[in-house]
Amino acid sequence: MRYGLHRAALAAGAALFAIAPASAADLEVTHWWTSGGEAAAVAEFAKAFDATGNHWVDGAIAGSGGTARPIMISRITGGDPMGATQFNHGRQAEELVQAGLMRDLTDLATKEGWKDFIKPSSLLDSCTLDGKIYCVPVNIHSQQWLWLSNAAFAKAGVPVPKNWDEYVAAAPALEKAGIIPLAIGQQSWQTTLAFQVLVTALTGKEGYQKIFGDKDAEFAAGPEITKVFAQADNARKMAAKSTAQEWNQATAMVISGQAGGQIMGDWAQGEFQVAGQVAGKDYTCLPGLGVNDIIQTGGDAFYFPLLKDEEKSKAQEVLASTMLSKPTQVAFNLKKGSLPVRGDVDLNAANDCMKKGLEILAKGNVIPAPDQLMSADSLTRINDLFAEFFNTPTMTVEDAQKRFVDLVAAAD
Ligand code: GAL
Repeated sequence: MRYGLHRAALAAGAALFAIAPASAADLEVTHWWTSGGEAAAVAEFAKAFDATGNHWVDGAIAGSGGTARPIMISRITGGDPMGATQFNHGRQAEELVQAGLMRDLTDLATKEGWKDFIKPSSLLDSCTLDGKIYCVPVNIHSQQWLWLSNAAFAKAGVPVPKNWDEYVAAAPALEKAGIIPLAIGQQSWQTTLAFQVLVTALTGKEGYQKIFGDKDAEFAAGPEITKVFAQADNARKMAAKSTAQEWNQATAMVISGQAGGQIMGDWAQGEFQVAGQVAGKDYTCLPGLGVNDIIQTGGDAFYFPLLKDEEKSKAQEVLASTMLSKPTQVAFNLKKGSLPVRGDVDLNAANDCMKKGLEILAKGNVIPAPDQLMSADSLTRINDLFAEFFNTPTMTVEDAQKRFVDLVAAAD
């Protein structure tokens, strides 16, 4: 009997040994995903990583990317690095990489053939500096969406708009019905987002490239950009009574029908999903504001600071592979409202809005994110102007455009 127990214990030990990874570690992962939809999505990463025998230590930083990024950066530069951290696709971590603080993932990427399955290839290009790969893209997020409450328009007695102009035209009816036409959070990145979306919708791929890619001051001074500022002026009037702070508070106003709509990235879908709302029935999504079907292939990537601890370093590689695995890509992106970075996964369960995004992606109607085109400093200056314009009703379209031209001329 005693022998039997002992044998059983040994067998159990052997079984444990067989499933445990060669090493296991606690890895702190920082990110700014704290809304309902975001938390549900990030839990999929944690679950998949924990299943490898390692342990995801959640380092959520509340606020927004703008609050979280300086904290992340100062921890890395200050000698207190986390195991992995979120940044947006693009140049946000460029200086950390140049300072030699981030881990080179090239060997792992080559071994696993990331180049063969990560689509579009621009995602991996954004992770690459001097030929070496420093991050794992985990999703494709696009900002270019207008989310509309079907109930709000029904209450106002007007049809749900099919494009930006119809939406602006419906604003008085919404107001009359006691509905705030446009919900927008007060944080500056949200006004920035609205402007960037207007630039894309109203001036197309070419106009967007001229501003953020070519830094073309002449184009910035022209009539197409005047139109963008004029529509931004409409947007600020439509949002005059919006008191939300966080983006998901603004989404909640659309979900409840208190507001007619919100210009926001496709991560808003996570919130509609958590609230049990159905695309097409309860809410409507218009990519490119219903004017130009274009989406941006921005999104999120994870970077891995160089660590001295060998076990944690091994766990970093496991996390990188896990984030890119087919089942994790599907589970995470369905909850997040983003599109997977792999072209070889089955997204049968995608809702109508995600399907629209997938179609636009398949047509190649895509643009890179501003972060992929312009330095962080130049973008900050331009974004500050957008925020000021939005919050200063006395700033005219002409004044704003004049300042915009100077900033574009000086941008790198
Ligand atoms: C973005 C990020 C998204 C989304 C959003 C709001 O920067 O790419 O994943 O979560 O912030 O938090």
